[in-house]
Amino acid sequence: MCGIIGYLGYRDAYPILINGLKKLEYRGYDSSGIAVFYENGYTLYKSKGKVNELKKKISSIQIKGTTGIGHTRWATHGGPDDVNAHPHVSNSNELILIHNGIIENYHAIKIILLKNGFTFKSKTDTEVLVNLIEFIKKKNKLSLEEAVRISLNEIVGAYSIAIVEKYHPERIVIAKLGSPLALGINEREFFIASDPIPFLDYTKNVIYLKDGEMAILRKGEELDLRKIVDNHKLSPIIQELQINLKEIEKGEYKYFMLKEIYEQPKTILDTLRGRLTDGLIWINGVESNKNIFINAKCITIVACGSSWNAGLIGEYLLEELARIPVEVEYASEFRYRNPILEKKDTIVIVISQSGETADTLSALKLAKKKGVFVFGICNVVGSSIARNVDAGAYTHAGPEIGVASTKAFTAQIAVLVLLALKIGKYRLSLTEYRYNHLCQEFGLIPEKVNRTLEMIENDIEKIAKAYYNVNNFLYLGRGINFPVALEGALKLKEISYIHAEGYPAAEMKHGPIALIDENMPVVIIATKKGCYEKIIGNIQEIKARKGKIISIVNEGDVQVSMLSDYVIKIPNISEELSPLLTVIPLQLLAYQIAFIRGENVDQPRNLAKSVTVE
Ligand code: M6R
Repeated sequence: MCGIIGYLGYRDAYPILINGLKKLEYRGYDSSGIAVFYENGYTLYKSKGKVNELKKKISSIQIKGTTGIGHTRWATHGGPDDVNAHPHVSNSNELILIHNGIIENYHAIKIILLKNGFTFKSKTDTEVLVNLIEFIKKKNKLSLEEAVRISLNEIVGAYSIAIVEKYHPERIVIAKLGSPLALGINEREFFIASDPIPFLDYTKNVIYLKDGEMAILRKGEELDLRKIVDNHKLSPIIQELQINLKEIEKGEYKYFMLKEIYEQPKTILDTLRGRLTDGLIWINGVESNKNIFINAKCITIVACGSSWNAGLIGEYLLEELARIPVEVEYASEFRYRNPILEKKDTIVIVISQSGETADTLSALKLAKKKGVFVFGICNVVGSSIARNVDAGAYTHAGPEIGVASTKAFTAQIAVLVLLALKIGKYRLSLTEYRYNHLCQEFGLIPEKVNRTLEMIENDIEKIAKAYYNVNNFLYLGRGINFPVALEGALKLKEISYIHAEGYPAAEMKHGPIALIDENMPVVIIATKKGCYEKIIGNIQEIKARKGKIISIVNEGDVQVSMLSDYVIKIPNISEELSPLLTVIPLQLLAYQIAFIRGENVDQPRNLAKSVTVE
């Protein structure tokens, strides 16, 4: 979490920093700050709250300088206030640092620094780091870069940092371990950011720093890239970004989340492009590891949040179509419980939109350490997870900016369907007829998602108006639509702050049924093929307790519709593919409810888009 930004060149740094921070707010938005440097001095402002608060604070002030750094924070050590906001300044006022990540051994270092006369204003680990660098620099009379390098070798934890010395604004030192750091390069200027989007207006040439690398940026000079451990000089690899600027603008939509919901017909098509053609499925990362997939005896899927819910859908798909046993694990649990992984027979699949989720990344590293083949499903190209897997498939959903995942989730499901069909075909675990039929229906999905959006719009609005004020929601589904119920509940919770639970419909009897009364709306996914008769039984049980039924049914449905208070109709589709349609009304319902409640849909409280702390 946290977003960092920096500029060194010939333009005014302030507008680049403040606009860049707005684009990085998805990474954290409880406080922000900037420092802009001029000869022998700097201007530093910090503010609690969103970047707009900082902007307001600075609005009447002229900030001049062509070197600067900035930070938008998601609090870990110390509350979200002006003092704990970044940049942090060393005791002598000479070193100014921004940091994304966590210094795990900061407490031990702080004690040493306190004994050496250092004092601290904030509760952050970052203030400890900037003073450690100062301590080492002064004690050993080192250059800034050498002091940074030696200090970082003492650090346990994760970081991407940028540091400037008050009397040398012509230089910024940056370094990375575990947290993302992109460096944009143009003639006579450098841009630093947690992802390249803030500098896309200026350059498409980017270097992604690797873990354990640092760089010294000097005005008018070539980039100096080094290894932190031994100062070994490295040759930078410059990549050209392929992002279209339109993808990161809201356009006519009020919120990114709404835009992203409506983009899904296109994003699913993009996920399928070149991979599903005339009944043939082609996924490079699977093709080149064919034997591993044919011989696998089990698959473990590891992820967090919505990606975990997608993983659970993957379990149903892979077991049903490829007949391989699948376990789905929360990355945060998996990484700490010494999982049993049979090197020869197991595949670990990691799923992550951002490709930076700390727990998922650590789980991936653990699996690799145990010698297991790791396949990644990621959205962000070049992200840490994408770079570390043995093979993988990008979801191609384009930049997802709303904190609540929508289009990345459906793109993940689309990849999992492709994977299950492909492996099923390899292993001859599904009939030719079933394979062809599913491929054919799969090709129709983008159009059906489009139709779903058209069909549900009015109904969702009515339902949102009826229930935006309740305190609880229940989401029920069976089989492959149980994870969709989980996803619906997660969406509602995170953006509207209404308590919501997802359950397998029949499991309701074992506890949650106690919650049902006339104030409890229950969203039930009741598509034709998914244990339809059983679901009708579950609905009767809810009605008997006066619960309100909001059902998601297929076109032409009669029975469930008659029993429901509100009905949302979606096109018919095979059960295996149904999550790609059933989740759409749940996303839109969560959006509409949060919108009516006046919440900031794209930036829900306490959350960040990419969770880079464990
Ligand atoms: O980037 P990742 O897919 O690894 O992120 C995992 C979760 O943090 C993420 O899905 C989170 O739950 C979303 N806010 C859900 O909308």
